Amino acid sequence: MKKVLIIGGAGFIGMNIARHLAKRDGYKITLADNFFRGNKDAELEKFTSENGIDVIEGDLTDPSLYSKFDNDYDYVYMLASVVGVDYTTSMPNEIIRINTALIFNTLEWLKTTQCKKTLFTSTSECYVGAIEAFGYTVPTPEDIPLCIQDIGHPRFTYATTKMLGESGFINYARVFDFDSVIVRYHNVYGPRMGFKHVIPHIIQRFLNNENPFQVYGHDQTRSFCYIDDAVQSTVLAMEQEDENGEIYHIGTMEEITIGELIRYTGSLMNYEGEYENAPTYPGSVSRRCPDITKATERLGYEPKVNWKEGLKKTVDWYVEYIQSGKELHESFYDNKSKS
Ligand SMILES: NC(=O)c1ccc[n+]([C@@H]2O[C@H](COP(=O)([O-])OP(=O)(O)OC[C@H]3O[C@@H](n4cnc5c(N)ncnc54)[C@H](O)[C@@H]3O)[C@@H](O)[C@H]2O)c1
Repeated sequence: MKKVLIIGGAGFIGMNIARHLAKRDGYKITLADNFFRGNKDAELEKFTSENGIDVIEGDLTDPSLYSKFDNDYDYVYMLASVVGVDYTTSMPNEIIRINTALIFNTLEWLKTTQCKKTLFTSTSECYVGAIEAFGYTVPTPEDIPLCIQDIGHPRFTYATTKMLGESGFINYARVFDFDSVIVRYHNVYGPRMGFKHVIPHIIQRFLNNENPFQVYGHDQTRSFCYIDDAVQSTVLAMEQEDENGEIYHIGTMEEITIGELIRYTGSLMNYEGEYENAPTYPGSVSRRCPDITKATERLGYEPKVNWKEGLKKTVDWYVEYIQSGKELHESFYDNKSKS
């Protein structure tokens, strides 16, 4: 039996990792979260109780909370973080405070334990500055130097904390004798991902009958990774032996334009109005696509869901969810920031 702790385990990717592991035998799973974004709803309660999963609730910026954890997990997934471009502009100070505290507290706790291996979730945002400033290769491999284009811009607070995390996890692991691996995600999407990501935004705008539909950054490219593929590769990276200190780019190499993404979403939603190209927000990069050769060769990772198939599943889920009148839960921070 492997003991697994998923920090940030009620969030989009964390919950899907838990679901994936729960379907396989041989795991004792604990989720830790403060439900900042992760939903504490009937679905979570049903899933955790049916699968014997422990839930530890609390704000992990408080180091005293770590005393609730065991000290001998085989695998510790570190996903807790404040995520989303909107938050970086509305509360950049909180991004720095919360994400730094989560990383620091987790590392300081890990060094006192007998936990065997940890996985830190990073982002392509850490390196995109190097593409823009120095013309690095796209699709981009893991050995690209990390680079922030404008250290004062609030948007980059998130990437700055992820760079700290990458360095912190690799170096604490080396000094305190546990294993650590880093995954850098590239636009992971799918049902139940919240309402802050680009795809749910687009779906909501179509449901609001925006016409003409503004296609912000129409010729920018991205590659979108369906949640099942992200989970598959994350678990492979964690469970592969002799991977200490390795970094993996996780995503797909299907590079599409934002224009293609929007128009295909529109066709799935039977939109018959006009489209109008429009500029995007400052700091948004023109191309982003991972080179996943390393994950393919070393982990045996093969993305299985192409973008049109994944987008259809996602659109169907959101349309059903929104039209059923359910609450558009995002976080208590949203409510606070409105007050
Ligand atoms: N989704 C993506 O496309 C993507 C891309 C790059 C990197 N990542 C990284 O992957 C990880 C998971 O992403 P996600 O999309 O599942 O995000 P998410 O926001 O759904 O999950 C993060 C979880 O962390 C929890 N959390 C936040 N602050 C906390 C605190 N103080 N104490 C305890 N828990 C706290 C949230 O409640 C949430 O459940 C994140 O670290 C994110 O930065 C995701």
